[in-house]
Amino acid sequence: HPKIARGTDLYGRGRRNSKGWDITDPADVARIEAGRAPFASPHQWTAGAEGMVRGVVNPADPDDVVGQVFEADAAMAKAAVGRAIDAQPGWAATPVAERGAILNRVADLYEAAAEEFFAIAAREAGKTPLDAVAEVREAVDFLRYYAMQAPRVEQGTAARGVIACISPWNFPLAIFTGQVAAALATGNAVIAKPAEQTPLIAARAVEAMHEAGVPADVLQLLPGDGPSVGAPLTADPRLAGVCFTGSTEVAKRIERQLAETGPADAMLIAETGGLNAMIVDSTALPEQAVRDILASAFQSAGQRCSALRVLYVQDDVADTMLEMLFGAMDSQALGDPWSWATDVGPVIDEEARDDIRAYVDAAEQKGRVLKRMAVPERGLFVGPAAIEVSGIGEMEREVFGPVLHIARYDAEKVDSVVREINARGYGLTFGMHSRIDRRVQDLVEGVHVGNLYVNRNQIGAIVGCQPFGGEGLSGTGPKAGGPHYLRRFRRAVEAPQDA
Ligand code: NAD
Ligand code: ALA
Repeated sequence: HPKIARGTDLYGRGRRNSKGWDITDPADVARIEAGRAPFASPHQWTAGAEGMVRGVVNPADPDDVVGQVFEADAAMAKAAVGRAIDAQPGWAATPVAERGAILNRVADLYEAAAEEFFAIAAREAGKTPLDAVAEVREAVDFLRYYAMQAPRVEQGTAARGVIACISPWNFPLAIFTGQVAAALATGNAVIAKPAEQTPLIAARAVEAMHEAGVPADVLQLLPGDGPSVGAPLTADPRLAGVCFTGSTEVAKRIERQLAETGPADAMLIAETGGLNAMIVDSTALPEQAVRDILASAFQSAGQRCSALRVLYVQDDVADTMLEMLFGAMDSQALGDPWSWATDVGPVIDEEARDDIRAYVDAAEQKGRVLKRMAVPERGLFVGPAAIEVSGIGEMEREVFGPVLHIARYDAEKVDSVVREINARGYGLTFGMHSRIDRRVQDLVEGVHVGNLYVNRNQIGAIVGCQPFGGEGLSGTGPKAGGPHYLRRFRRAVEAPQDA
């Protein structure tokens, strides 16, 4: 496992990102392992307090019930918005420094309870230790960064009101926390609707936020699925806006809903999916490129919006590069996400497993699967696979799992590859491996994406240093973890006119 960087100075002015836990340091390793033990089965967590009850099951182990969730309904969503409307003015009147101090306290509480968050992330969301550590660090960074940024957006602006924060399961603590922290830092009240697959870690996060001093009605958790809770929530005309991260399809639905029932100045931030490409040319260092392709496509079982989906390899080096890549794929271990030996954990649920497997099966029938790994018998696993394609243009949708598409390209025609990538309409991440400066510069200028990575992997943007977000079908912006994000959570107020 790569070393996790310690305390990079990224905020400027001496402020630092979360130091995190260094998995090459025996003391930190002991802490991560000690954290896992007390929370191993049969410890359970609970989310919500009323509504339909449902068990939450570990995706790597069908016998491990991680906890239970009480799921809300449309009437509870309506009541929650009412309470939030009443509570929001008091929160907006709380000085921004005090709101920031509360968020910094939440960050401290997260770090103090990190072992518990690791355990929930592993058991509820299938995170490996590497991913679980990154998850808690990113959440802590969002809290501290937005606490620091909030005073900068106060002047001439006002809080919007009640914001619905709707988040995905793949960063169930980091993205959940980032949305909520941004809305709270700027004086809004929040109804937080976590993904139905990961309510437990969200509930633990909200517990920390309340403990740190966020009033109960200013931040309310509303567990449940999209159709029964998310949809009625976004249809409530009293909402000032929605902060959404998830699929492009659901984002479009929410956008239409807000246009129909929301206020005229309804806010929508939508951070959505991607069909992310990487170009590897003949000057790339093969070992480095292979390591970065592997991380980009298969870390987190490919369940990152930023993950590499289409690899373009220059045809002169393609045979060698692919032989190395498939060899490296063979060395990846699938299994218990919490084992140190595991590289690729489970996918999130049965629906995802069946969808991804059916997709690879269909490609196999067409004779286009170049490599497919076997899976453990128990648990929701999908074997990392490589599928041959002519290019991104033939891909109909984002397949959210460990599936890498591979296309060969002719060096003379790299411009048409760039045109094809741009024409597909997504614009989240792009990676490239080349040692020719002029080519790098041309691609940096030519490819339209939010986050572009050169001679490294293309996942794991760091708050405050690499603001993250896409364009086109990949999102509305502004980028999360960047200096412009909080402005969207405030509305401009007219300066009083002189009499
Ligand atoms: P999803 O769109 O299925 O669900 C996201 C959230 O929306 C969940 O909380 C869900 O319950 C809710 N939802 C579903 N239908 C709804 C409706 N009609 N109204 C309101 N809410 C509704 O996405 P997912 O499967 O949870 O997450 C994976 C997707 O998220 C991928 O497409 C991935 O690329 C994207 N993603 C994007 C980013 C980014 O920053 N751009 C980050 C992480 C994930
Ligand atoms: N911010 C996450 C990443 O960069 C999605 O991988």
